[in-house]
Amino acid sequence: MRVLVTGGAGFIGANFVRQTLTERPDAQVTVLDKLTYAGSRQSLAGLDVELVEGDVADRDVVDPLVAQADVVVHFAAESHNDNSLNDPWPFVHTNVVGTFTVLEAVRRHGTRLHHISTDEVYGDLELDDPAKFTATTPYNPSSPYSSTKAGSDMLVRAWVRSFGVAATLSNCSNNYGPYQHIEKFIPRQITNVLDGRRPKLYGAGLNVRDWIHVADHNAAVWDIIDRGQVGRTYLIGADGEMSNKAVVELVLELLGKDPGDYDHVADRPGHDMRYAIDSGPLREELGWEPRFRDFRAGLTDTIAWYRDNEAWWRPQKDAVEAKYAATGQ
Ligand code: NAD
Ligand code: DAU
Repeated sequence: MRVLVTGGAGFIGANFVRQTLTERPDAQVTVLDKLTYAGSRQSLAGLDVELVEGDVADRDVVDPLVAQADVVVHFAAESHNDNSLNDPWPFVHTNVVGTFTVLEAVRRHGTRLHHISTDEVYGDLELDDPAKFTATTPYNPSSPYSSTKAGSDMLVRAWVRSFGVAATLSNCSNNYGPYQHIEKFIPRQITNVLDGRRPKLYGAGLNVRDWIHVADHNAAVWDIIDRGQVGRTYLIGADGEMSNKAVVELVLELLGKDPGDYDHVADRPGHDMRYAIDSGPLREELGWEPRFRDFRAGLTDTIAWYRDNEAWWRPQKDAVEAKYAATGQ
């Protein structure tokens, strides 16, 4: 099977490529990635993949790659909410125009597509609301990032209905694991502590995220490609709700520090309060179950990865922290 992975040099995409090569010996993988600040050749080092450096919104690059593929797994995106608040344009370009470009190519070539999206398209929930997001929750995105992902989902749904494109969609909750960029919450705090800096919590830190290990997300993606129903949206989550405050305290504890040794910094404008996924249909219909059920153990492994792979993150650390300092975060 020839698999085209857009955004395969980023966090989830690189883990997907690694997992695919290990678990599916019949797969031939090509990665299309612009290698923005978030993409890294090093994340794919030593792997038997073709890496094409290019823009997912460039038809001349995308079309021939899609023509050669049996399935396209579309991860490429601008993915960080804070960046989208400072400069929204790249989010519109990559997330909306890029997805449009992929859709037109799969339409021309009749290629199967799986579109990777986020639970943030549904907006947020109150802390005391017993509800979780389902595939019928109305879209209500809060940030430029989540609104462009919502736009990309709508394009995919329209191309399925109007043009018969063979696409599935998935909306997943917050991922953690190796190869995640250090601008993101968990790796930022791990590398802060490893670097002798204090972790930074936005506002009071009561916001809740529904954590899932990246390997569980990617296993679900393959289940959907293999057995999912074309046109359907599947929500992926592992019942991992935890407040940001509790996560920072656990990172500090696992690194042998005082769990109270962190700073409260400026809150994110428009900060979503809580995400929670109901992944019942994925479990019941496709038989998917998370393997990483113990967040403490998964986080311990993730900390070990950042400790062992300092060369991967070190060159970016000062610049990432300087950028946050400029916004009081
Ligand atoms: P990431 O920022 O780590 O990686 C994104 C990758 O896309 C990078 O390699 C980058 O170079 C590439 N890219 C960006 N613009 C591009 C362009 N114009 N053309 C080609 N490549 C481009 O992101 P991630 O966290 O791995 O997220 C991957 C996907 O999963 C995104 O679609 C995101 O919305 C979705 N998602 C992420 C999470 C999460 O917790 N990280 C959860 C649910 C869904
Ligand atoms: O829910 C899925 C989404 O999860 C994905 O679609 C996004 O691509 C991914 O970036 C992530 O979005 P979040 O905004 O939830 O992730 P982030 O890592 O930026 O922040 C997680 C929480 O931690 C959020 O409530 C903000 C807070 N935070 C973040 C940083 C970077 C802090 O308190 N301190 C920080 O330093």
